[in-house]
Amino acid sequence: MLKIEGLKAGYGKREVLHGINLEIKENFTYLLVGPNGAGKSTLLKTIAGFLRPEEGKIYFKGEDITFLSPAERSKRKIGYFFQGGEVFRNLTVKENLEIAGLSLERKELLSRIEVIYELFPKLKKLKNRRAGLLSGGERHQLSLGMIFLKKPEFILLDEPSAGLAPSVVKEVLLAIKKMKEMDSVTILLVEQNISEGLKISDFVYPMKTGKIISSAVPVKEFKLDMMEEIFFK
Ligand SMILES: Nc1ncnc2c1ncn2[C@@H]1O[C@H](COP(=O)(O)OP(=O)(O)OP(=O)(O)O)[C@@H](O)[C@H]1O
Ligand SMILES: [Mg+2]
Repeated sequence: MLKIEGLKAGYGKREVLHGINLEIKENFTYLLVGPNGAGKSTLLKTIAGFLRPEEGKIYFKGEDITFLSPAERSKRKIGYFFQGGEVFRNLTVKENLEIAGLSLERKELLSRIEVIYELFPKLKKLKNRRAGLLSGGERHQLSLGMIFLKKPEFILLDEPSAGLAPSVVKEVLLAIKKMKEMDSVTILLVEQNISEGLKISDFVYPMKTGKIISSAVPVKEFKLDMMEEIFFK
């Protein structure tokens, strides 16, 4: 579904991604694991189209999308949750979801909103509350709901559970898993809570100082010594 070849990108003169190669197969979840500063967010940002690569190619379903805008990628059903998440604070939960689904037909939008309420029951209870008044965890769930609403085929998730209480982390990851079963989506996930992340993933891509250091490792074969290699060597 996604293929990246020799991708180099960075900020100004500073190169952060030093030639990334990776391949993502449809309907699987890939966990990107690497220390702080490895370039995980930079890679997701580049795939989403918010950062222009200096070199290399990104193919989505066979199409070269390397230089498409984020909006054009979104039209191709690529969803992006960036570190921190974002919502319109002056609008209610329901209005936020409606805005996220502007491209859908009204009938589909309404049924999709019900699906999101099923995934995140808390959002249903809070549907008339202004997003600016939500707790951090609730806002996170809304932000994820806004991404799922558009029925993406491929989702980039940058730390969807960061800063949340352990019980909410489980809730959010469970919602991702449920959504995957419901809509059969492909996911590239960054998650600091690696043991929780592994539970909902099929493969691991180990990343270190701007490089993917191995081909995709099936979760069952991902062992402690690989963690040491990634984090301590
Ligand atoms: N907007 C920016 N401008 C300049 N440098 C940046 C910018 N964002 C990130 N960097 C640098 O790029 C490198 C990779 O950062 P990135 O955020 O991709 O790492 P990460 O793997 O996501 O880390 P973390 O686990 O802490 O989220 C870091 O050295 C960081 O300081
Ligand atoms: Mg990051």
